[in-house]
Amino acid sequence: MNSKVEFLPINGTDYVEFYVGNAKQAAHYYQSAFGFQPVAYAGLETGLVDRTSYVLRQDKITFVLTAGLIPYSSVALHNKLHGDGVKVIALWVDDARKAFHETIMRGAEAFEKPKVTKDEHGEVVTASIQTYGETIHVFVERKKYNGPFLPGFVKWEPEYRPEDTGLLYVDHIVGNVGLGEMDKVAGFYRTVMGFEQLISFDDKDISTEFTALKSKVMVNADMRIKFPINEPAEGLRKSQIEEFLDFYIGPGAQHIAMATDNIVKTIEALKKRGVDFLNVPDNYYSDVVERVGNINEDIDVLKKYKILVDRDDQGYLLQLFSKPVQDRPTFFFEIIQRKGAKSFGKGNFKALFESIEREQRNRGTL
Ligand code: FE2
Repeated sequence: MNSKVEFLPINGTDYVEFYVGNAKQAAHYYQSAFGFQPVAYAGLETGLVDRTSYVLRQDKITFVLTAGLIPYSSVALHNKLHGDGVKVIALWVDDARKAFHETIMRGAEAFEKPKVTKDEHGEVVTASIQTYGETIHVFVERKKYNGPFLPGFVKWEPEYRPEDTGLLYVDHIVGNVGLGEMDKVAGFYRTVMGFEQLISFDDKDISTEFTALKSKVMVNADMRIKFPINEPAEGLRKSQIEEFLDFYIGPGAQHIAMATDNIVKTIEALKKRGVDFLNVPDNYYSDVVERVGNINEDIDVLKKYKILVDRDDQGYLLQLFSKPVQDRPTFFFEIIQRKGAKSFGKGNFKALFESIEREQRNRGTL
């Protein structure tokens, strides 16, 4: 353990909160399409006046969907500007006050000072700091709490409970930032949060005939938290990162990778339930064995579901990317199964970006 572990130990991702236009309908989508289970609710009935939130969970992944109830609430204004997207990436810590003070001392900008909230289930300490764009990190200390989610939330127990789809935990969360900002944001994670750079990609790794991007992958000490940071690089056409920045109106979370231990079963279920994924051409699979060597999965099954595969020196991984999950071409999901590989599918970047370019061409934004 190095000193960085001591100043900001993180137990894991606590929750991710999306600000959306219609939380009730979004919650239904995450239940019916992704198989998230209902956990908790807050709104007018619980004494809130400006917002309503639904909390859903699948194994270790907790999502909060929040919508504004009045036009000039901070939630409604955020949603008006950015569309549906990630507002909060909450981190589970043992000491939220310490996490706040250590990061502020190292240059973090405060969003909300430490505060204690209580109900009959105990108490929670939260504190939050700014990261890229209008996105924030909330530190959550919940060791004295045993309620369904956080104080103020009540159990949400609808009869409608579609089966889960085998999603287990958040593998990584990617941020898109503006041209020339990647190093600054990577530096924030290094200096303020004590993260280290796992790997970096530049336009030589990540480019097609038309578009290019650069990326640095920042990880915490035990590598449980992985935040790749992307910025656009000079290309012939508009890159997917620029398209994101144009439609999100600034930096924000681009995708969340959710892990499964049976990607074929998970993807089959998600596709059946209406989640749209990016397509790769059949010829992607013609040289896949040459590229990645022997794998346990049947290539024909991977081809049927258009699941991508890549190898690094520690093993291989299987992955697939959804299309954007809201009207703006901004946030999407990745489904990933790691079989030893610690990397991010560099060998798939070209096929993937060509697939995104086909989508951009359809949208007229390439
Ligand atoms: Fe990813």
